[in-house]
Amino acid sequence: MTETKPTVLVTRRMPSAVLDELARSCVVDLHPGTDDLPHEDLCARVRGKQGLICMFNDRIDAAAIAAADSLRVIATVAVGVDNIDVAAAAARGIVVTNTPDILTGATAELTWALILSVARRVGEADRAIRRGGWTGWTFDYMLGGELRGKQLGIVGAGRIGRAVAAVAPAFGMRAVFAAKPGAGHHPSSDETVLSLDELLLTSDVVSLHLPLTETTRHLINRRTLARMKRSACLINTSRGPVVDEEALVWALEERLIAGAGLDVFEEEPRVHPGLLQQEQVCLTPHIGSATRETRAAMAALAVRNVVEVLSGRPAVTSVGC
Ligand code: GLV
Repeated sequence: MTETKPTVLVTRRMPSAVLDELARSCVVDLHPGTDDLPHEDLCARVRGKQGLICMFNDRIDAAAIAAADSLRVIATVAVGVDNIDVAAAAARGIVVTNTPDILTGATAELTWALILSVARRVGEADRAIRRGGWTGWTFDYMLGGELRGKQLGIVGAGRIGRAVAAVAPAFGMRAVFAAKPGAGHHPSSDETVLSLDELLLTSDVVSLHLPLTETTRHLINRRTLARMKRSACLINTSRGPVVDEEALVWALEERLIAGAGLDVFEEEPRVHPGLLQQEQVCLTPHIGSATRETRAAMAALAVRNVVEVLSGRPAVTSVGC
């Protein structure tokens, strides 16, 4: 008797070696393009599938889960799961998995790229040269701020926040952490933990490393931005809606803060036009984990999670377990 292979919907092209691995034990229904799979199409195509491999920008809401009549596992190729109705999945006994740990290093590297770019005006300098705006060396052209001796405020002391903090001493910076709002933060003995307000008042760089939840949505708003030093910059490599973009544009225009480095936005791929106007803002298109090594490892882990669950074994990295 031939055993029927389970079928897995994959919403985006992934490395072929990883898809070949998946195809060894599953039938693969791949949305081949680089464009998003529209939500209605996702809901239609997930019907009858046992597995779903999705990306952080696929909306796996209650409607998608209701349509997924045979689904046993949702594997997102991301660490954040704010796009997935995890409770609706759990209610249906569907395992949700993500790809933590393996993207920590890449995201921490990009965070530092943004910190350095904003402090030393790298994007602005590059643009000046390209438009022929550099007419000769002068003593005080493109002066930036030095990181040495400054305070790095980490909001979100998870894996990525801690990895970013670990690099701070190499630049002569002192890292401090924000106490988790509403919950106990368990610092190690060498960590300094401040209230969010204290951290904002005293830090020269504020870097966000929080998951998007109802508590963290717009955590950075007019009130919290007004607490920051005028010379400070804000870095966000977590999720766009943690920052109220309208308020950030206001704070930059009013010179309440000195700059920002942003890899994530409230309504990706749309970027608030007010941010595009600001020379002291460095923008990258949600590429925190975008190294060849990390993306391949994330895809491989998502496939492993699917294969394990569909073989009746526990997932390697399930969410909420
Ligand atoms: C990307 O944004 C991720 O959550 O991995």
